[in-house]
Amino acid sequence: MQREQWGSRAGFILAAVGSAVGLGNIWRFPYMAYENGGGAFFIPYLFAMLTAGIPFMIMEFGLGKKLRGSSPVVFSKLNTKFEWLGWFQVLIAATIGIYYVAVIGWAISYFGFSFGQDWGTDTNAFFFADYLKLGENSPTNLGDWQWHIAIPMIIAWAITFAAVFRGVKGGIEKASKIMMPLLFIMVLLLIGRVVMLPGALDGLNYLFSPDFSKLTDASVWSAAYGQIFFTLSVGFAIMLAYSSYLPEKSDVNNNALMTVLINCGFSIVAGVLIFSILGYMAAEQSKGITDVVSGGVGLAFVTLPAAINLLPIPYILGPLFFLALVVAGLSSHISIIEAVTSSIMDKLNVTRQKAAIAVCGVGFVVSMAFATNGGLLLLDLVDYFVNNVALLTSCLLELIVVGWLVKLSDIRQYVNRVSEFNVGQWMEICIRFISPIMLAVILVKNLIDTFNDGYGGYAQFELLTLGWGLVAAMLVVGIIVNSTTTPARDMETDA
Ligand code: PHE
Ligand code: NA
Repeated sequence: MQREQWGSRAGFILAAVGSAVGLGNIWRFPYMAYENGGGAFFIPYLFAMLTAGIPFMIMEFGLGKKLRGSSPVVFSKLNTKFEWLGWFQVLIAATIGIYYVAVIGWAISYFGFSFGQDWGTDTNAFFFADYLKLGENSPTNLGDWQWHIAIPMIIAWAITFAAVFRGVKGGIEKASKIMMPLLFIMVLLLIGRVVMLPGALDGLNYLFSPDFSKLTDASVWSAAYGQIFFTLSVGFAIMLAYSSYLPEKSDVNNNALMTVLINCGFSIVAGVLIFSILGYMAAEQSKGITDVVSGGVGLAFVTLPAAINLLPIPYILGPLFFLALVVAGLSSHISIIEAVTSSIMDKLNVTRQKAAIAVCGVGFVVSMAFATNGGLLLLDLVDYFVNNVALLTSCLLELIVVGWLVKLSDIRQYVNRVSEFNVGQWMEICIRFISPIMLAVILVKNLIDTFNDGYGGYAQFELLTLGWGLVAAMLVVGIIVNSTTTPARDMETDA
């Protein structure tokens, strides 16, 4: 059977950008830049983008297009011994897909609340007590199932399912062509209004004024390096799957460069948006910006609702913001679920429809663990281990396999043959030396810190089971699947 293909170059880029641009760009990057030296953070960030982001994206687009398969197929074609790494990546993607959808669900709820600012004035109490109904819970004592959280999650699953079920061109590409322009327009409209507010420029000053002394702090460099893989969706099966649908004649290097630049550009734009709003909020409340700034869940669901209360036309700007969050999240979620679905299709030789039903069905059921009183805590714990341990391990292993265990120069030759511009020897140096060394340093530090200090005050047995145990289980399952499957059936290769 002929492998599905993207309908157009723009369609592919919009889908890849849809995956890369996600919640991380909006709530992680701005805060990270602020915390790590403001304007000076752009130096380590650009360094990470040039030495890790761009080479890694070129490598994944090249491998996916050349070997025409999802992650397990790509690795087993490099060498049947490496297929487990593909499954490890698929399991990481599946895990992220299962909790990411909870955040999209919250954003859908907040989109609804934002028309009348139903969150009131105490947005902290509203989020934790009234909405999540978080009580004396823990990641292993989740409390009761919550319909009002489950319903928006079901909506998110339904949209993702529809896109993946309909396939590459008729589903994913179509959805991306609607979602991405919509997202960019909404963000530009928001910025257009908020940068003119009093205090907004002070907010931007805080974000962009460089603290160069931070550049000698190793943790700033590792923050930039750790963020680049997550933000680009590389290293966990997604971009391999997407590029496996590239038509014969498509370019690799240029598409990879565009995807990286658009994602990183969007992050900066999101930073402008968030810090304009925070600057205005600080000015309105006669506070310093350091008193209002936050990142992650707290930024999106506590601080920004409070800021929206103070904005002019909150019933328009609020819904615009939360719809942007929903759209950014959904297009990423579609890509995660596609990575899992395409792997099942490739390996079990089942139709897309059957694979999509199985993946979304199982994913949906498991994700209901997050529609509970303690769902946030479970999410927080799993997310920490996935980001700080599993994801970096997977990226490091991929760099070792591709940089050292197969012939990397062949891959570089291949991408140059199919691309408008060539990448030089520097790509191999980045993939073989710079990126793995940086990653290994960060990973070892994360392992030691987590081992010694745990995380977030969670109980030891919770860290052992839902943290370390989960990561180990993903690796072990990958290895078991590898040892029981027959080598990838012969699929066409773009030689
Ligand atoms: N790249 C996305 C972001 O920056 C994150 C993501 C995670 C995307 C997992 C897909 C899958 O938010
Ligand atoms: Na991103």
